[in-house]
Amino acid sequence: MTALQEKAKDVLINNWREKFTIPCANLYPFQWKWDSGFIAIGLSYFDIEKAKIELNTLLDAQWGNGFIPHIVFHTDNDSYFPGAKFHRSDLHPLASKTHKSTGMTQPPVLGFVLEKMYQIAANKNEFLSYIESVIDKVYFNHEYFYNNRDPKNEGLVYIYHNWESGTDNSPIWDDIWETMNPPEYEFERRDTTHVDASERPSKREYDHYLHIIEIAKKHNYDDVKIAKHSPFLIQDPLFNAMLIKSNESLINLYKLIGNNLAKIQQLENWQVKAKNSFNAKLFDENIGAYSHYDLRNEKLLPYLSSSSFSPIFANIPDQNRANQMVETMLQKFGNENQYLCASFDPTHQRFNPKKYWRGPVWINLNWILYNGLKNYEFDAIAQRVKSDTIAIIEKNGFYEYFDSRKEKHETGAAGYGGNDFSWSAALLIDMLEN
Ligand code: SER
Repeated sequence: MTALQEKAKDVLINNWREKFTIPCANLYPFQWKWDSGFIAIGLSYFDIEKAKIELNTLLDAQWGNGFIPHIVFHTDNDSYFPGAKFHRSDLHPLASKTHKSTGMTQPPVLGFVLEKMYQIAANKNEFLSYIESVIDKVYFNHEYFYNNRDPKNEGLVYIYHNWESGTDNSPIWDDIWETMNPPEYEFERRDTTHVDASERPSKREYDHYLHIIEIAKKHNYDDVKIAKHSPFLIQDPLFNAMLIKSNESLINLYKLIGNNLAKIQQLENWQVKAKNSFNAKLFDENIGAYSHYDLRNEKLLPYLSSSSFSPIFANIPDQNRANQMVETMLQKFGNENQYLCASFDPTHQRFNPKKYWRGPVWINLNWILYNGLKNYEFDAIAQRVKSDTIAIIEKNGFYEYFDSRKEKHETGAAGYGGNDFSWSAALLIDMLEN
């Protein structure tokens, strides 16, 4: 391991809490779904037993219908809002009886995480038996998505909350907020006591976030009712690309295990349908990449974000389309004054390079894009994403997100949000191995 990888390893060791890893101290004191997946990849390089425990702990919180929640509240820590008492997962009849959680999910990364861990594992046979012990739970989760989150039977699943996207306050959601008029809720934010408010979503944005949860709670987190009543109902290219990539990994892993022909067949059917609909519905010729589809208001939301390019990670576009996407990326995000890859279009008026998902560079998206670019043999640009990622971490530390403007990095103060952030550390370890 290099010196930087050793530092990354220390971050993961310090953020370990008995059976799972917190994303970072104070700001995020529980277990987050997609964080856990990325973290397990990093852990696998130096302690694969811990990586297994990380995933087992998350899977222990799976609901009776296959759903895996976005936050599992393992402790009563009150340094985070909204906590278990607000989310009330117990309203759903099939929620875990042993674990308190949210009633929403996050991008389905576990399939490809398991495959990546298998590639890292020194003892493949032993790791394959581990995979055998958990893979059906991940499959069950995919079944949940296709059976409950795809009301038009298109092979594309919806998210009903911006927190499900992982890209919490993306400017894309501004269009949805314009269709809503939630009450002014009274509550005590905790995030802005840990982190500068200029780097976090606004109070009015939180009103919208809470309001969607109140609607879902009113319907006891029933998917059919949510699909009918949620003002936020989006087919997100990042979320669906993660699901498609995870389908592909589950197929590969079931083939390694042997048997399981019916599941492989089902996964292949989902793949064909999902990729066809993805390409037909989510590609936006006007912007030269994929965009989000607003299922509630039946229209594409015509914005470029780092999510727009994530389908290259899941082998969704053909080569021509991938060429077009990379051209768009370089033209809009790849100016020599910008680090790749800003989370939102730097040429757009809604771009804000300091504010969470409205512009900063995020390490998990860079990792996804780096691997996607390599899939299509865009080696030079993949290399640029990798060296940008290393540079911003070396200059600032293992922050949660980073200013995309290079000039801001001269003084080493261009890392924002939480510090010693687990997935920044975990995915850097992996990138440096490649
Ligand atoms: N990322 C969200 C937050 O900031 C929750 O998933 O609280």
